[in-house]
Amino acid sequence: MNKKFDLIVIGGGPGGYVCAIRAAQLGLSVACVESRGTLGGTCLNVGCIPSKSLLNLSENYKKVTKDFNSQGIEVNNIKLNIEKMMSNKNKSVQVLTKGVEFLFKKNKVTYLKGKGVIFSPEDVVVYSEGEKKNYKTKNIVIATGSSPTSIPGIEIDEINVVSSTGALSLRSVPKKLTVIGGGYIGLEMGSVWSRLGSEVTLVEFLDHITPGMDKEISKEFQKILSKQGIKFKLNTKMTALKKDGTNIKVECQDNVSKEKYSITTDKVLIAVGRKPYTEGLNLNKIGIKRDNKGRIEVNEKLQTSIKNIFAIGDVIRGPMLAHKAEEEGIAVAEILAGQAGHVNYDVIPGVIYTSPEVAYVGKTEEQLKLKNINYKIGKFPFMANSRAKVNNETEGFVKILANRDTDKVLGVHIIGPHCGDMIAEMALAMEFGASSEDIARTCHAHPTHTEAIKEAALAVDKRPIHF
Ligand code: NAI
Repeated sequence: MNKKFDLIVIGGGPGGYVCAIRAAQLGLSVACVESRGTLGGTCLNVGCIPSKSLLNLSENYKKVTKDFNSQGIEVNNIKLNIEKMMSNKNKSVQVLTKGVEFLFKKNKVTYLKGKGVIFSPEDVVVYSEGEKKNYKTKNIVIATGSSPTSIPGIEIDEINVVSSTGALSLRSVPKKLTVIGGGYIGLEMGSVWSRLGSEVTLVEFLDHITPGMDKEISKEFQKILSKQGIKFKLNTKMTALKKDGTNIKVECQDNVSKEKYSITTDKVLIAVGRKPYTEGLNLNKIGIKRDNKGRIEVNEKLQTSIKNIFAIGDVIRGPMLAHKAEEEGIAVAEILAGQAGHVNYDVIPGVIYTSPEVAYVGKTEEQLKLKNINYKIGKFPFMANSRAKVNNETEGFVKILANRDTDKVLGVHIIGPHCGDMIAEMALAMEFGASSEDIARTCHAHPTHTEAIKEAALAVDKRPIHF
């Protein structure tokens, strides 16, 4: 008979493995079940991490081929070696997944390889290579993540019609790539292949890209990406994909004019969102409730309809972001250890790792209008920031939204160089309930891109110095 664990976490992605480690730190006996063969989930294996490797390498390639010569660094005979690029990416992923395994050993988390099924609120069965083992537990955390949404009638073969997984492993640069969906994945992967030489066309159903993002930023973002060569077909529905010899015909219809046309392409990336992955967990049988989007319902303590079973990350409501899942994982571990455990959903930053990056935290202008909250705006362009100027990266701006009466910062939206890192300062400021004046009166090092934040905060009170 196996021992009874305090906690079994199902899923070893950023939500699950962080939850397991934190619970072990707090003295609980913990096991984590993972079926992929490596830890780290979608994020580490086929998501955030490998895409950031390709975003970085393709940006370097673009700089060398397009920017360096005009900046006095003369380079000739540049050759792209996709195979090496992919193996560099794969090595980074391997090192990082092994790193999580090491952290499990260090924290005495039992790593159960196989597919976990909830047999009862106290029994998890792990299936692996035809074998079946039963494990007893006092608590269960479901952290099984999400899988790509497909479009009815469209088959993803991961060779010619790819999801993000296939788009991270193409063996050569497609001459033409058509991306369906103007969200995070479409824009990041579209940027990668566009920089490496593909002609990229992006089809988006709505009349704007990045739904939910502050509209002003979204517009500027699309303008910048268009300048980089990505073609946008907004307000357009993809109706079918047809094989055309070695090519693919993407059949489209304009939502407004109803005009039908087709785009001939070599590869298609389907990036129309992700859905909670709960297949085979046995949720219906044990009575765990889900909403109409298939997300597991949880209360403020992340408890499901069964009180010793919790759920975190992409399987529940909220943004499908690794760092949101991590915070939830830590909260559950702390709740189980008798601590407070809490996630501040008002301060979850988001970043799109294009060039320039886009980053935000808090409310958008549209959300504030909808809630009838009086606000003031401070904006500052990177064009007027000395560091951005000397680095030839002047596109974009910082936008700070503060409460008109109290000056409390309600949202920060940035498009510009390195803002994916800079947004952390704004998340911290908001966690501390900062006013725009607090930010404006904080000394920022010169010359840095962060001065654009200080200036935007000064601009809330109409007193920027450099603009
Ligand atoms: P998304 O939800 O960000 O964007 C999907 C887009 O597809 C939307 O703009 C939607 O209007 C459009 N769309 C839906 N159906 C369509 C159709 N039939 N034809 C044309 N357009 C259509 O989803 P995405 O990009 O697939 O990303 C999935 C999740 O992964 C996101 O929730 C995101 O949070 C996460 N992610 C986060 C990253 C980051 O933090 N940097 C990077 C990549 C993914």
